[in-house]
Amino acid sequence: MISIVTNLISFIILCFFFYGRSLRKSNTDKHIKIMSGVIFSDVALVLFLVLGRSALSKVSMEMPVYLIIHIFFALSTVILYVAAVIVGLKLKRGQTRYLNKMRLIDKVLTPMRVMTLVTSTALMFI
Ligand code: HEM
Repeated sequence: MISIVTNLISFIILCFFFYGRSLRKSNTDKHIKIMSGVIFSDVALVLFLVLGRSALSKVSMEMPVYLIIHIFFALSTVILYVAAVIVGLKLKRGQTRYLNKMRLIDKVLTPMRVMTLVTSTALMFI
């Protein structure tokens, strides 16, 4: 039951991710607000899973491959979120030379975030 709820929350956050991303050129202020909210919500969800569901207790060398794959996508997403915030703040301060860096982060981060949901949903059926 709780996996359905956490995956549903992850799906809703992903919808806001794509909405905030769609504003990246048209409304930068709203882009920043929504993407910051997305990052905060995703980190809060990970903390809930780690602290509330002792998800870390499942992490071991014997864990199944599909869990390793899910953790790879999830950890990559969180690491790229840190990069997006650092580069985003530079862009906010007018350092436009970082625009290509943000586009590169976006190209890697977006599929990583989608695959995080795809693999966590798959975990419910395996
Ligand atoms: C979390 C994921 C994020 C993604 C995927 C993302 C994606 C992007 C992309 C692709 C662009 C380039 C738009 C273009 O091609 O011109 C962009 C621009 C920008 N982003 Fe983000 N962003 C994210 C988070 C953030 C955050 C957290 C901040 C601020 C702290 C931020 C601030 C900006 C700013 C200021 C611009 C420049 C807008 C401009 O001057 O054209 N972004 N973002």
